[in-house]
Amino acid sequence: MRTVHVNASTPYDVLIGEGLIDRAGELTAKVVKPCRAVIVADDTVDELYGDRVQISFSYAGFDVSRWTFPAGEASKNLGTLSELLEELAGRRVTRSDLVVALGGGVTGDMAGFAAAVLNRGVRFVQIPTTLLAAVDSSVGGKTAVDLRAGKNLAGAFHQPSLVVTDTDVLRELPAALRSCGAAEAIKCGVLRDPALFDLLEGGDWLGDIDEIVVRCVAYKRDVVARDEFDTGDRAFLNLGHTFGHAIEQLSGLTVSHGEAVAVGMLMAATSAGCPDDTVLRLARCLRANGLPTHCPYGAQALAGAALSDKKRSGDTLTLVLPEAIGRCILRKIPVGALEDWFARALAAQERLAL
Ligand SMILES: NC(=O)c1ccc[n+]([C@@H]2O[C@H](COP(=O)([O-])OP(=O)(O)OC[C@H]3O[C@@H](n4cnc5c(N)ncnc54)[C@H](O)[C@@H]3O)[C@@H](O)[C@H]2O)c1
Ligand SMILES: [Zn+2]
Repeated sequence: MRTVHVNASTPYDVLIGEGLIDRAGELTAKVVKPCRAVIVADDTVDELYGDRVQISFSYAGFDVSRWTFPAGEASKNLGTLSELLEELAGRRVTRSDLVVALGGGVTGDMAGFAAAVLNRGVRFVQIPTTLLAAVDSSVGGKTAVDLRAGKNLAGAFHQPSLVVTDTDVLRELPAALRSCGAAEAIKCGVLRDPALFDLLEGGDWLGDIDEIVVRCVAYKRDVVARDEFDTGDRAFLNLGHTFGHAIEQLSGLTVSHGEAVAVGMLMAATSAGCPDDTVLRLARCLRANGLPTHCPYGAQALAGAALSDKKRSGDTLTLVLPEAIGRCILRKIPVGALEDWFARALAAQERLAL
């Protein structure tokens, strides 16, 4: 088992290793005295792992119950949150009790937000079961639900007390979910960690999954330590997301988040004039991980979709631009210039036959 310590306003450990799901209760009991615990999971994950996690917490002395909701982003809304809060309050969960988020980013974000606001803050533990949740959403303390006006618009910063990541669970993931998480892991490699990129490059990395998760979490830990509340360096984590968000929107969400981030990263690289050999290397890495490299939309439509993001404010936006594998810069541009950046990326896409 490997440990990454996160030094946020509330410090905590991220434990990464094989077989940890059956030890989640015992590991949690080392940081939270056994108490009432509610395991929150979507119906798919509850079916797969709910019993094992419940047994593990029960065995460690927690008074455990479970609450489930229908799987999918469509559940990450105020309606489900309200049901969850009523349920937690009905089960008399207090500030000395515990919420356990078992699942992907949807569960972690929503259960984490419920824990943040119930009684003005109840402790919670994350047990990520998707690669995306393991390398990205379970660490850093951002919790949220979606509003009609946009994704993640209602939320809070609330750090977990512990993150327990079982890499056996991640090894079992269906290919599409693995690819989606791989996009975020490749992002960390492009941002800071050429050795991580090397590990991911061939697409055949299940044997190195512990090392991959550790490196991604360590990167996120460092960024969060510098900028917990997202006023500066945390912007680096948006690599591929401004361009990718536009693709996700234009596809009517038929392109997954990971696929959109993959193409978005490539577009960020080409729009900034990243050397061709680096761009082609990134494209090969994405394809080897089952991710696309081609953007089928025009610059004007992309800029329109990117700028419809309700969270954007002011006349400028910050792009994250790769200069090399392992090195990126932030660049503030006027919103009116975004279409030109997309156009440059599309021209490079054509020239390099991506
Ligand atoms: N808080 C953050 O910092 C942060 C960062 C990135 C993304 N996010 C959020 O994360 C969410 C996306 O996360 P996600 O992709 O994990 O979504 P998700 O939680 O919906 O999981 C995707 C699907 O995989 C299924 N699933 C989960 N674990 C499984 C397993 N082990 N085996 C088989 N199926 C499994 C789920 O039931 C679901 O259908 C988005 O809502 C996004 O906004 C948050
Ligand atoms: Zn993302």
